Amino acid sequence: MKNKVIIVTGAAMGLGLAAAEELAANGAKLLLVDYNGEALQQAKQQIQANFPSAAVETYVADVAKEEDVKGYVELAKETFGRIDGLYNNAGIEGRQAPLVTYDLDVFKRVIDINLMGVYYAMRYVIPVMQEQGYGRIVNVASVGGIRGVVNQTAYVATKHAVSGMTKNAAIEYGKYGILTNAIAPGAILTPMVAEAFKQVNPADPKAAEAEYAQRNPTRALGQPQDVAKLVNFLLSDANGYVNGQTIAIDGGESNLYGNS
Ligand SMILES: NC(=O)c1ccc[n+]([C@@H]2O[C@H](COP(=O)([O-])OP(=O)(O)OC[C@H]3O[C@@H](n4cnc5c(N)ncnc54)[C@H](O)[C@@H]3O)[C@@H](O)[C@H]2O)c1
Repeated sequence: MKNKVIIVTGAAMGLGLAAAEELAANGAKLLLVDYNGEALQQAKQQIQANFPSAAVETYVADVAKEEDVKGYVELAKETFGRIDGLYNNAGIEGRQAPLVTYDLDVFKRVIDINLMGVYYAMRYVIPVMQEQGYGRIVNVASVGGIRGVVNQTAYVATKHAVSGMTKNAAIEYGKYGILTNAIAPGAILTPMVAEAFKQVNPADPKAAEAEYAQRNPTRALGQPQDVAKLVNFLLSDANGYVNGQTIAIDGGESNLYGNS
């Protein structure tokens, strides 16, 4: 990972920030992208405080907007001269509701961010990697990209799409030295998941969290650092032959049928 240039989207908090810290710890140069400009600056300060020699650039972008994506890819090229890795992580859950009554505007916004945002990033980063003859891409799907999740139709649809696009990128661009994989996190304790527990039990989100953890084979939720280590591996030279996979990181929960 030393001196590799990595773009991290959704880098201001949660899985993106944890991965950015892990990548910085391993010597990567980072372009952090997020639409929350204030949180993005805080993330940069946090990383530079912990890793003073880390090269960290930021770009405020909505990944659902094609022009914004072109903008951050250009900045990465101008600043660092190449792009070795893309952590295509920005995503939203949407609102929880049954399929039939799901709010259509929210549905479309989830598609714009989770599906089109991931697609635009690959569309503009892959040609740079193709020219280099090298690249590593990690797209963030979810267990909702390999299983159904009650009341999350838009999220599940887009995360299955991420897994599908990952397979296509892998088979079309593997010959250029580009390895593309997806990860499928289960419940990892980030601001997004904390918000989901609030929706499940507004009166006592911590009770919802504890109940959820009890269903997992490990009896625990995952931590962002667990995911960061997997991402670091997949984005590094240590990964020489894993391509087109959607790798669950969920304590084994997606293998479960019935009670554990
Ligand atoms: N936390 C989990 O348990 C879990 C499980 C499965 C999948 N995921 C996926 O991991 C990714 C990160 O999730 P998280 O839990 O860290 O979420 P989070 O809400 O804690 O952080 C997401 C970050 O992405 C940014 N973001 C969202 N939409 C954006 C947009 N349109 N443009 C730019 N930035 C945007 C947010 O500002 C935020 O900083 C998402 O794709 C999510 O679906 C998370």
